[in-house]
Amino acid sequence: MTALQDKRIAFIGAGNMGEALIKGLLQAGRVRPEQLIATDVRKNRLEAIRKAYQIETIINNREAVTKAQILILAVKPQVMDEVLVELRGAVAEDHLLLSVAAGIRTAFIEARFSQPTRVVRIMPNTPALVLDGASAIAPGHHATTEDLEVARQIFQAVGRVVDIEEKFMDAVTGLSGSGPAYIFVVIEALSDAGVQMGLSRDVATLLAAQTVLGAARMVLETGEHPATLRDTVTSPGGTTIAGLHVLEEAGFRGTLMSAVEAATRRSCELGKG
Ligand SMILES: NC(=O)c1ccc[n+]([C@@H]2O[C@H](COP(=O)([O-])OP(=O)(O)OC[C@H]3O[C@@H](n4cnc5c(N)ncnc54)[C@H](OP(=O)(O)O)[C@@H]3O)[C@@H](O)[C@H]2O)c1
Repeated sequence: MTALQDKRIAFIGAGNMGEALIKGLLQAGRVRPEQLIATDVRKNRLEAIRKAYQIETIINNREAVTKAQILILAVKPQVMDEVLVELRGAVAEDHLLLSVAAGIRTAFIEARFSQPTRVVRIMPNTPALVLDGASAIAPGHHATTEDLEVARQIFQAVGRVVDIEEKFMDAVTGLSGSGPAYIFVVIEALSDAGVQMGLSRDVATLLAAQTVLGAARMVLETGEHPATLRDTVTSPGGTTIAGLHVLEEAGFRGTLMSAVEAATRRSCELGKG
């Protein structure tokens, strides 16, 4: 709580991720509405955000920067360079910059300013929109321990946070960044299977999604290795081992590993581009 107390946070870009963070921070009681400012290029978007969360909204990025100590850069990676150029001169040494832009390195942001600039890079994922995200945070060259704590407190409002070195951001992108899409496929396939076995679509989808959610919570809450948990539900000669045998024959485990590897490699390529 203390790291954010009395600080003003400006969201540069109030789209999906910006709004998720605003909502999460307010819902978790980590900040008061008067601590938050949002900017965007769209007036109607700002109006909607102001009405929904009773926070200050400003169309001018530079003006927002002068009113805040923490800046959350939540614009698309394609417009990041243009936004950083605009902010040059307005960003001072005592500002902390938190960037969620996929593929944009902290060194890229630091290089846009003439003074040493404190930057923390964060890779959140889509479930942040329902306050159940997984975010990895990595410091830039000038970020301090307190800066990381600020980033942690902000992103814990929309889910779980891990600390990593920036060189692992592509691996995070391949695992938790792209991961929700893999799991949507798993849920859809399980639901299809339920329908094939005679269940209604609604019932099958609910059972599939809740099963994924429940299994994930068991891993997180017990701290047990997933293999141990799997063993406890696999009785000798039972139904589960029959299903697992089919998954092993089809190379399910290896396929998921290859998917994460391919997405990580692609993230590396895009970062270089
Ligand atoms: N959504 C996710 O699940 C997710 C996950 C991981 C990382 N991220 C990262 O989060 C960042 C934002 O993603 P998003 O999904 O929230 O995108 P988004 O919904 O498009 O939000 C970005 C907002 O910024 C506005 N904008 C554009 N140019 C601007 C400028 N110069 N100044 C201020 N605002 C400006 C956009 O307006 P227009 O629409 O009119 O351009 C839009 O409302 C991206 O860098 C992305 O890589 C998102």
